[in-house]
Amino acid sequence: MSMDITITHTKNSKVHDVDFENLPFGRIFSDHIFVADYYDGEWQDARIEPFHKFQLHPATMALHYGQAIFEGMKASKSFDGKPMLFRPEDHAHRFNASAARLCMPDIPVKLFMTGLNKLVSLDQAWIPPQEGSALYIRPTMIATDEFIGVKPSQHYKFFILTCPVGPYYPKPVKLVAETKYVRAVLGGTGEAKAAGNYAGAMLPSKLAQDSGFDQVLWLDAKEFKYIQECGTMNVFFVINGKVITPPLYGTILNGVTRRSALQILSEAGYDVEEYPITIDELVAAYKNGTLQEAFGAGTAAVVSHISDIAYKDVMMTLPPVSQRKVGSFIKSTIDGLRSGRITDTYGWVVPVNEIVEAAVV
Ligand code: COI
Repeated sequence: MSMDITITHTKNSKVHDVDFENLPFGRIFSDHIFVADYYDGEWQDARIEPFHKFQLHPATMALHYGQAIFEGMKASKSFDGKPMLFRPEDHAHRFNASAARLCMPDIPVKLFMTGLNKLVSLDQAWIPPQEGSALYIRPTMIATDEFIGVKPSQHYKFFILTCPVGPYYPKPVKLVAETKYVRAVLGGTGEAKAAGNYAGAMLPSKLAQDSGFDQVLWLDAKEFKYIQECGTMNVFFVINGKVITPPLYGTILNGVTRRSALQILSEAGYDVEEYPITIDELVAAYKNGTLQEAFGAGTAAVVSHISDIAYKDVMMTLPPVSQRKVGSFIKSTIDGLRSGRITDTYGWVVPVNEIVEAAVV
């Protein structure tokens, strides 16, 4: 398979129309898109084009059976204005793990990385300058056979779109522990970034929002006992000075931000444990005054403090953000690594290394 990527520049950049001080999440799209198609058993026609809509046959398989996966990652600018990516190869590998679970072809990591680097280099003017904002990157793969039978597609489309974004959750989030619906079962697709996981979560999330919450806190599917993750993030608690996050049961997303937070916290000397915490233990900690913090970690959300968690008739209201030492430390560290304010000793923040002549703006 050739790794050549053809590039067609937009003649009509929209970057000057963007108010970078007021960025909604996920509604503004940058000038270019990276696309490759899979047919005859290999990835072909890799190209960067002006951002455009796709034409899809009504029988396109992804639309019917959800054979679709995605990633979420971010680019930021270093203090000297250079575009940087956060742990991009980790995202490429997780993408392929999702592809394997959904019976989709691997995307060669080299193609993923080259397309990504060229695209971000080309659209680097779209990276918001301020810390806490970023260029959100959405690699996606969809099954494109035009066929209504149920079997793995022979054709796929891979694309990467990007959008400048501000914070996903502008304020601390209020969660309700879900006691009726489940997100994932053991042996299911919960560990993959499968589009359908998010579709199945929409009704419970909407019901939670209708009752005044921002998101649900998922419990395990068998006993409704073990805490899993929250809507769009992995979840962490600080109980009596110890930082706890649920282990990767096979039902929760293997978060890159989760992994980063675990390493940063343990290297900073925090007592950190991946522990199968139950909702009853959380309530007990709240009642005996040892539940000090709760926060979510994810690419879009970075680190978002959790203000309240409802479970049945208990409403756990957590201490104010001014008292959140751990969540604030981890948020500031990850934001600081991305912006270059903190020196990256981990090798996670990697410069965009394919210099592509930026679009004429
Ligand atoms: C991410 O954090 O990148 C996600 O994919 C979560 C989401 C906005 C669906």
